[in-house]
Amino acid sequence: MAVRSPRLIQIGQEQPASVRAELLRGLAAQPASTSPKYLYDALGSRLFAAITELDEYYLTRTEAAIFARHGDEIALHRPRAATLVDLGAGNCEKAARLFVPFGVQRYVAVDISVDFLRHSLELLQRQHPAMELVGVGLDFSSRLELPTEIGDEPRLLFYPGSSIGNFTPDQAFDFLRQVQGECRGGGLLIGVDLVKPVEVLEPAYDDPLQVTAAFNRNLLLHINRLTGTDFALADWRHVAFYDTAHSRIEMHLEALRALTVRWPGGERRFAAGERIHTENSYKWRAEDFAALLANAGFSAIRRWTDERGWFAVFLAQA
Ligand code: AVI
Repeated sequence: MAVRSPRLIQIGQEQPASVRAELLRGLAAQPASTSPKYLYDALGSRLFAAITELDEYYLTRTEAAIFARHGDEIALHRPRAATLVDLGAGNCEKAARLFVPFGVQRYVAVDISVDFLRHSLELLQRQHPAMELVGVGLDFSSRLELPTEIGDEPRLLFYPGSSIGNFTPDQAFDFLRQVQGECRGGGLLIGVDLVKPVEVLEPAYDDPLQVTAAFNRNLLLHINRLTGTDFALADWRHVAFYDTAHSRIEMHLEALRALTVRWPGGERRFAAGERIHTENSYKWRAEDFAALLANAGFSAIRRWTDERGWFAVFLAQA
């Protein structure tokens, strides 16, 4: 039997000049903000992996417990789709656990850069020599359009970890509409973090070991590399709080003193206490998320939660 190897496709990587322009526009705005996607350089991705190990960060563990407890029942209701598309695949670990119960024949891992996927897919191919593995480098945060090379059969799109929470509700609706269109009659399996007491939420995003603070502050080093800014880490502190009115955790970086950030061709003054908004993490009520899925065109919407009702896994037909 011929040995298969993963197919790797990179779609439209953003040009450094447009990345720089977008970041500097956000930094110059009132209030300053940046897209959360810049939190994930190589170190940021490792820090995020460390966050998922923290006692306070219940999301990853709770989602895994839902799959461990209800996996058979979830698989029983799966749509007829032999292609699994993993959005934000990273190390591909979560999706690999679905291969057998979901009868996956073709696995499409999507992440911002195909370089992040190469190694994980090569390892997976050794464990699943007969399976067709495809890596797609695509920034789907602004638009989801999967390459024609992955075929036109029904697909199960997989979006775990409550990454949907990093979109505003309007953005989440637009994104789910695009997901629905990409399912080709298959379905969606998605993990969503739910509203819960602030005493649980805030430590998950402001842990005593300060791993989340490092994750947030590392953004400044990434921005320095991408734009030539001269952010100094010592001048900035991590701030995270739950905004009840918007049902979201907000993450910010706060200037510890009045200062000027300079870059080739420009500068921005920050007053002491002024902030850069770096991420939102929305928490949904399960009924509201089910309604969002229905409005986006999904049907046969089922959900499974943990005993405390902290997290939900939704399965829906496209
Ligand atoms: C990736 N995303 C779902 C994480 C979240 O919980 O919003 C990112 C994160 N930010 C701080 N901690 C984790």
